[in-house]
Amino acid sequence: MFVVGAGIMGSGIAAQAALAGYFVTLEDVSGELAERGRANALRALDHQVRKGLLDSVSREEAAGRIDVAIGLRRASIATIVIEAAPENLEIKQELFREIEGSAAADAVLATNTSSLPITSIAQVLKDPTRLVGIHFFNPVLQMALVELIPGIRTRSEIVERAERFAKKLGKTVVHSKDSPGFVTTRALAVLINEAAWMLQEGVATREDIDAAYRLGFRHPMGPFELADLVGIDTAVAILDVLWDGFRDPKYRVCPLLRQMVAAGRLGRKSGEGFYPYPARGGGP
Ligand SMILES: NC(=O)c1ccc[n+]([C@@H]2O[C@H](COP(=O)([O-])OP(=O)(O)OC[C@H]3O[C@@H](n4cnc5c(N)ncnc54)[C@H](O)[C@@H]3O)[C@@H](O)[C@H]2O)c1
Repeated sequence: MFVVGAGIMGSGIAAQAALAGYFVTLEDVSGELAERGRANALRALDHQVRKGLLDSVSREEAAGRIDVAIGLRRASIATIVIEAAPENLEIKQELFREIEGSAAADAVLATNTSSLPITSIAQVLKDPTRLVGIHFFNPVLQMALVELIPGIRTRSEIVERAERFAKKLGKTVVHSKDSPGFVTTRALAVLINEAAWMLQEGVATREDIDAAYRLGFRHPMGPFELADLVGIDTAVAILDVLWDGFRDPKYRVCPLLRQMVAAGRLGRKSGEGFYPYPARGGGP
């Protein structure tokens, strides 16, 4: 198996596939980034060992199955190539042009996009019937779900092979049509947006809204805690995709979210979102 993009998701997918017995090549734009991805994949495996979910022999075996590469040459020996590069249509289309040129003719081509139309990504391929969306969740080793999204022209044989692959990785598969935001991303965006509207209207405080979702619906975290984890900019970008796709006012972005992006309050990654996240170690 070959993974293009060794970031948060690519490294998690690599770790999960290696655990399932696949030999994985993790590729990125530089050797340093590919190595960083491999190190993160190994860290994710170590975390499983610490939690008692994995024994150290299996950890060693899985670690030995993850290799790194720069460039797509070694994609030619993979039965499945998964792209986990940044969420940008042009980047993904450009990559899939290259991937199609390097991968074996019968390999499954998959994208881990969380919101871009599979049909639009596949449009640049000579054979658009071989691309499928396999949407993993973060952190990959801990999240049981995979959302499977065929594009309009994807062959059923490719979908079946993708499903077998996801199940072999121990995931539960849900099927979604290639509709804007699929199932999960659409649900996520609306959840966060509605909470932001309630906060902006002064219906309740951020703490009470979060507590209401956590305790009232048994959500593991409130919508603002979730938004801070996902990134406010990402949430706004997804809502824009939904707006573009449906032109339905229910996807109107709450101005508070846009204002937070303008102010650089993007969530955990920027040190502040709906809540502050002081940098560890520094300061008094
Ligand atoms: N982070 C999440 O929670 C999450 C969840 C589900 C799906 N996704 C989707 O997964 C994909 C990857 O997201 P991520 O969070 O891992 O991003 P990331 O920024 O952590 O990783 C992307 C990686 O791709 C690399 N890259 C960029 N251009 C490349 C190229 N031309 N060739 C090879 N590698 C290249 C980058 O250097 C980086 O290492 C996106 O489509 C995203 O929407 C993300």
